[in-house]
Amino acid sequence: MTTITTDAWVLPSTARQPGRGALIREEFCFQDITAQEVMAKPIYGCLEGNMLHAIERDPVDICALRGEDSVVIGNAGVVRVERIGAEVDLVREGDLCLVFGNAVWDEQGYPIKIMAYDAPGTMGVLPKTMKLNQRQLIPIPADSAFTLQQWAAFSLRYISAWANWRVAYACWQSQMLGVAPEETIVCAWGGGVSFAQLALARKLGCPVIMICSNADRFDLLRQSGIEPIDRSHFNADRLEEGVLAAIAERTGGRGVSIFIDNIGGSAHRITLKALARQGVVATCGWKAGMRTSIARAIECQQRHIHVHTHYARYSEGLDAVRFAAEQNWMPPHEDRVWSWEDIPALIDEYARGNVASYFPIFAVNA
Ligand SMILES: NC(=O)c1ccc[n+]([C@@H]2O[C@H](COP(=O)([O-])OP(=O)(O)OC[C@H]3O[C@@H](n4cnc5c(N)ncnc54)[C@H](OP(=O)(O)O)[C@@H]3O)[C@@H](O)[C@H]2O)c1
Repeated sequence: MTTITTDAWVLPSTARQPGRGALIREEFCFQDITAQEVMAKPIYGCLEGNMLHAIERDPVDICALRGEDSVVIGNAGVVRVERIGAEVDLVREGDLCLVFGNAVWDEQGYPIKIMAYDAPGTMGVLPKTMKLNQRQLIPIPADSAFTLQQWAAFSLRYISAWANWRVAYACWQSQMLGVAPEETIVCAWGGGVSFAQLALARKLGCPVIMICSNADRFDLLRQSGIEPIDRSHFNADRLEEGVLAAIAERTGGRGVSIFIDNIGGSAHRITLKALARQGVVATCGWKAGMRTSIARAIECQQRHIHVHTHYARYSEGLDAVRFAAEQNWMPPHEDRVWSWEDIPALIDEYARGNVASYFPIFAVNA
């Protein structure tokens, strides 16, 4: 089989680069496409949490997990299809598609492993040329009024948000069916996934609140109908007291109906204390720690439902894209586009908390 060589940013294994990871630029080689695969040119990518987790090798070293010498990361973005395999019937040459990261799925279609992360042999959007299985692509609607940057931002975070919200809201309704969306208060902390989920809840009519520490984000939150709580006002030893008081004030003392917590760690304890009776805590992320502990008796007595999801099945991706196009559920257009050469600099700045955007976009072949 032909070997394809492309210019790429790669994450090397610890054998080649001990300690915390860093991307290196090199010629990356991979085998030509098979019948179900597609050769594509990434156009825009969007930096997201999995990429940082991979580089930080926390919670896992993905090269070691996959048994590979290096991995090309990047599972959010937009690509143009260049060439298709003999059995490909979901996309055509020339199609503009967003990347869909579910690479290995169970018998119900739910993801077990994620493309360009823990799924062996898969590659992300950081090289100039890449290949994917056709089920890792969703065509952008032909009449889309949105920019490719917006679809790149949408591809991972909005689909994760869609799939998590679907379960969280159904769980809330399982105990609180008669309660109108206007009485269902949704609060979140986290980044772009939480923002996307609050924007979705708002479209349904729910009052929405986001806990945030970056002043540059407050305008976006307010413009999006999301009420911000500034967590930077509270010192670490007063964070719990401060956040709970701010939430009590905004919910009239009732507490939060659905709390989206993609942070975990010590934040989880505050999340649970902020929940109303019959409240739902919903998560797909663990930005500040993947282990949590709960007082089970209290959670039972409060009838709290804990929702955990991981990305989405293909049908959910299609549903999310259709809804987005019809209902204008879209991330903001990003004016700032980082160049391909500056991707390592973007990652450094983002890890230091110096990038205000929830959806940092980089160009690959734009
Ligand atoms: N399983 C899945 O399907 C899936 C999909 C997508 C993402 N994820 C995971 O979900 C998590 C969030 O991802 P994301 O892309 O939405 O966010 P993100 O871009 O990684 O941003 C996280 C934001 O959370 C806030 N934050 C960080 N540490 C915090 C803390 N200790 N307490 C409170 N807030 C804190 C910060 O915003 P402020 O400073 O403004 O508060 C930060 O910008 C990541 O762990 C990611 O890997 C999982």
